[in-house]
Amino acid sequence: MADAAAYDIVVLGAGSGGYACALRGAQLGLRVALIERDRLGGTCLHVGCIPTKALLHAAEVARSAQEAQTFGVKASFDGVDMTAVNAYKSGVVDRLYKGLTGLVKGRGIDVIEGAGRLVDPSTVVVDGTNYVGNHVVIATGSRPRSIPGIDIDGVRVLSSDHALALDRVPESVVVLGGGVIGSEFASAWSAFGAKVTIVEALARLVPTEDEALSKVLERAFRRRKIAVKTGRRCESVRTSDDDVEVVLDDGQTINAELLLVAVGREPVTDSAGLAEAGVSLDRGFVVTDHNLRTNLPHVYAVGDVVAGLQLAHRGFAHGIFVAEHIAGLDPTPVNDAGIPRVTYSDPEVASVGLTEAEARERHGDAVQTLTYDLSGNGKSQILKTQGFVKLVRAGDGPVLGVHMVGARVGELVGEAQLIYNWDAHPADVAPLLHAHPTQNEALGEAHLALAGKPLHSHS
Ligand code: NAI
Repeated sequence: MADAAAYDIVVLGAGSGGYACALRGAQLGLRVALIERDRLGGTCLHVGCIPTKALLHAAEVARSAQEAQTFGVKASFDGVDMTAVNAYKSGVVDRLYKGLTGLVKGRGIDVIEGAGRLVDPSTVVVDGTNYVGNHVVIATGSRPRSIPGIDIDGVRVLSSDHALALDRVPESVVVLGGGVIGSEFASAWSAFGAKVTIVEALARLVPTEDEALSKVLERAFRRRKIAVKTGRRCESVRTSDDDVEVVLDDGQTINAELLLVAVGREPVTDSAGLAEAGVSLDRGFVVTDHNLRTNLPHVYAVGDVVAGLQLAHRGFAHGIFVAEHIAGLDPTPVNDAGIPRVTYSDPEVASVGLTEAEARERHGDAVQTLTYDLSGNGKSQILKTQGFVKLVRAGDGPVLGVHMVGARVGELVGEAQLIYNWDAHPADVAPLLHAHPTQNEALGEAHLALAGKPLHSHS
């Protein structure tokens, strides 16, 4: 079917990075083939961002029912119908999937169903047919990883993929890994009524975030009766028909109905002929330059196969960047430093830029921080949430980091990333108006305080 250079771009993988590249490429008038062995949308749409956030929204509704009396509302929580929760979750995914399918078709992109294999720098083979492009974009994504000695069997020992497909609320669960996935599932299952224990090898939950955020999250988890075991590793796991037994390195044994392994994700670069075709890999990730070009001419890589933050919005940005680069525009390379991060746990954790510790490594004693407590924010009081906005800067320079914890603070990260990415100084942000009463005001108040003119705070 396809022949020499039938396409300007052949994209291998239709997740966030791949489909964004295809959509932008087609918009720029390029001929695009998009190869996918499963479904358009990839991890984020089918087993990642979207279904997990639907699950977390259902958890928020459950929590609201449980805490309704706090607001004077009479309601009772009678448990969760997981079949109905899953139907709601699948409905969201299906609608977005249909929308995406229509969008891709509408842009004239050729979608090729099947597993692609790179055989030379311009050719991907799918089921014996060659798809030849002037450029190839590797966008094969990532998958859950495990650790030696733990076999993810999908029955007692689950990855996040399995956890999302679960047809019941477990009575008890051990979550191995207190990063993003671990904290999100711990929040959801706890709200649904499961007894949750979270085990994290490092000293705190969400260990890549500013330490102050971890403390608030950990306190909130403990208040909710989630057992938090930090600085602990899992030594061994034994499964039986009835339960799973998790032995920690301090000798403690925990028995639970299920174990969720959430210790990170690994790039999928072993099944598409990449190494055989000569693509340079480093610990499984595709090696790229700042323009996301691999060592092979005209072969690019985007998204989770490129080492760095494994986030869908980074994938989108990568895909758009590469399409524009191929089209001969002069796009700005994607800088991981300015990418906003949100953990949709309860409470949420959201940030952009340097943590206080990272800033101190670079700028030493010149670092200043300002923490604005949500107790001074009207909307947060209405929501009855605790938390804060913390700003980091060095000397009289721009804002180097914004760190937030509290209900719904993920929605504030848009403004935070504008502040960071535009190198704004506190005095630039201080005069901006924030509608009252919103949680956004907390960002404004923090900048007012850092600019030396606090309104609703003492600092
Ligand atoms: P992660 O890297 O965020 O967290 C894994 C955690 O497991 C780390 O804190 C690590 O210290 C811990 N760990 C590793 N080995 C361990 C062991 N043997 N025992 C106990 N703890 C151990 O990875 P996670 O949560 O699996 O997520 C994977 C990727 O997916 C991340 O890059 C994340 O950013 C992305 N993701 C993003 C979401 C979001 O943006 N809201 C949601 C879900 C995933």
